[in-house]
Amino acid sequence: MTLLITGAAGTIGTRLATGLAAHGVPLRLLDQHPPASLPPAGADFLQADLRDQEAIEKDTIGISAVVHLAGLTHEGPFASMVEHNITGTHHVLEAARRQHVPRVVLASSHHVTGLNPVDALTTPLAPDSFYAVSKVTTEALGHLYAHKTNVQVVSVRIGSYRDRPTEPRHRATWLSPRDATALLYAAATRPLARPFLTVYGTSSNRESWWPRTGWDTLGYQPADSADQHPAPGPLADRFMGGAFADDELPT
Ligand SMILES: NC(=O)c1ccc[n+]([C@@H]2O[C@H](COP(=O)([O-])OP(=O)(O)OC[C@H]3O[C@@H](n4cnc5c(N)ncnc54)[C@H](O)[C@@H]3O)[C@@H](O)[C@H]2O)c1
Repeated sequence: MTLLITGAAGTIGTRLATGLAAHGVPLRLLDQHPPASLPPAGADFLQADLRDQEAIEKDTIGISAVVHLAGLTHEGPFASMVEHNITGTHHVLEAARRQHVPRVVLASSHHVTGLNPVDALTTPLAPDSFYAVSKVTTEALGHLYAHKTNVQVVSVRIGSYRDRPTEPRHRATWLSPRDATALLYAAATRPLARPFLTVYGTSSNRESWWPRTGWDTLGYQPADSADQHPAPGPLADRFMGGAFADDELPT
């Protein structure tokens, strides 16, 4: 049962790999850049760019699930979002289909609903940036492949992944590293009744903006809560997406 983690040299990928390796989970790690430190014992590292379909396809041979984290994570030109986030995700899903990988976990983002006002989730899709549009498309690709191929897909709308809450809105959006590891591992391994599932990924914060639908299916029980940390000041944001929602679109 080997998991492939894409974006394994990034913030979440590095911690996920370390956490899972410590529990003896066999791993294959992929990123376009080498990791800052040696991969954990027992994990192979492969340097590959997901814009290259062939590269990812050979790396998925014999894999039981892909946790797809690779991509651009800050706002930027639309063309870059298409290349890294949309085409990259398409290549991962297509490789999974061709190599009979039964499960792909997609790193989506809470920014897909980021243009909702902070007090009410009124619009089911309200992307707040080109980045968020790329994540909407990521989810749509996942839904398509889950219904037309044998690949099951779990899309995780990751909240704010930080060691601790640092902004007022993190009282609702915070996802701790250890909860993220538990959630992403469950998304990769738990049996599903349906081929496609979308969940929001946060810790067990008392203040909560999003439904916890799907947590039961995955058996996800967060260990952390933003309430265990000092409140980082009063909320001034108008939108759930915070600064992403307020910033101008890049030209
Ligand atoms: N960190 C958060 O709070 C947060 C919130 C919501 C969603 N997410 C999503 O979670 C995922 C991981 O986030 P992160 O914080 O670890 O990001 P990160 O920027 O630290 O890591 C992303 C990694 O992807 C790699 N990458 C980018 N394009 C690639 C390509 N074409 N081929 C191969 N590798 C490529 C980068 O080299 C980098 O190591 C991202 O998809 C991000 O959009 C993160």
